[in-house]
Amino acid sequence: MKVLVIGSGGREHAICWKLSQSPKLTKLYAAPGNAGMADVAELVDIAAKDQENLLKFCKREAVDLVVVGPEAPLVEGIVDRFEKEGIRIFGPNKFGAQLEGSKAFAKQLMKKLSIPTGDFEVFENAEMAKDYVAKKGVPIVIKVDGLAGGKGVTVAASLPKAMEAIHLDMVKKVFGKAGERVVIEACLEGEEASVIALTDGYTVQLLPSSQDHKRIFEGDHGPNTGGMGAYSPAPIVTEEAEKEILEQVFMPVVKEFQALGHPFKGFLYAGIMMTPPPVSSAKGGPIPSEPRETGGGVAAHGFSVLEFNVRLGDPETQVILPRLKSDLLEIFLAVTETRLSQLKLEWEDEHCVCVVIAAEGYPENYDVGHKIAGLSAAKEQPNIQIFHAGTKRQNGDLVTAGGRVLNVVGSGRGIFEALSRTYSAVDMIFFDKMYYRKDIGYKATRAVR
Ligand code: GLY
Repeated sequence: MKVLVIGSGGREHAICWKLSQSPKLTKLYAAPGNAGMADVAELVDIAAKDQENLLKFCKREAVDLVVVGPEAPLVEGIVDRFEKEGIRIFGPNKFGAQLEGSKAFAKQLMKKLSIPTGDFEVFENAEMAKDYVAKKGVPIVIKVDGLAGGKGVTVAASLPKAMEAIHLDMVKKVFGKAGERVVIEACLEGEEASVIALTDGYTVQLLPSSQDHKRIFEGDHGPNTGGMGAYSPAPIVTEEAEKEILEQVFMPVVKEFQALGHPFKGFLYAGIMMTPPPVSSAKGGPIPSEPRETGGGVAAHGFSVLEFNVRLGDPETQVILPRLKSDLLEIFLAVTETRLSQLKLEWEDEHCVCVVIAAEGYPENYDVGHKIAGLSAAKEQPNIQIFHAGTKRQNGDLVTAGGRVLNVVGSGRGIFEALSRTYSAVDMIFFDKMYYRKDIGYKATRAVR
């Protein structure tokens, strides 16, 4: 089978790497891809947003399956368009992609389905939004409704900061149309985790849990980034919580989309806030029969949905796919043919860690074009995979070409072994002004200790 993967980050490199192991694969393309993906796929110089040329390419090369990595093409309706042209494509259609494309849509759906989520209101008027914040007080969270490249969320600890965010989003329109509407919601305390489900619109299977590190600096300080590292599994997501998340979050959403006549096919990622367990259960006692109440519904094990994404996470994918024993291409085919019920996803019982190596200055200003050294030796280390993000070939040399440059992924029998292998490999890599966090996985090791 000929497969085209759309995207150019570490997530898409991990998808290509896993697909390349499938006996069903005859040819793999990546558009636009990156220098690392060139090891397993033929790079096609077409941007992820250029649907017109991607479509022409698929027709010309008789591509059998298209896999979409990032959210923007999904939100723009690439699945509807390609399906209409008779091209098999993996991912949700435009209707389903609203779950990520509109925060207001997602929150209203959660409320309708009594999915546990923080209290919220939606505003299209800046003055009304400011009045609401003044009434509610801080801390409070302000989110632009549309896609904003992960930058549209402000956790405001003071009233001036909250008012400034509303002004920037709604009056100054720094995120354009995405900020014409905002969701203002309660600021929840707890630990965030990522729980991703795979569905063909009817059957739902959970992927192993994971946690990412969104902030740039150690101790989870500083501005948000696209993700500085991740690990799987996430000890905070217990088996009981996973079961409850499946039953109270994913199943109601999948059933609702069926009922609406738009079965959701693809990955559905729930950003979950695991809230502290009730005092009696923290001490080892039973969970109280009266579950705690949140904005949209109730959760006996203490969790609340922060957001939905309609794709795999980045860098979560980099720690989930190395644990997958099953054939990823067969999984994508099963979803597009609505026969996921016939497959059981098999996973390695191991821990996986990803450390993102970035360019100093990221997520703000950073240089590109620095020569990368030590990669061959790092790649040879046992249980290590390296997934590229911002890299390219320049006069034969591998050079940096983005803020997040490399994802170093190590696996082991436990979190400590996985961490030690990963950081040993990171130590072998060098480029001018490289930066990485040295505390990836600290919440997982704390949980084990
Ligand atoms: N790691 C967060 C995301 O992929 O949205």
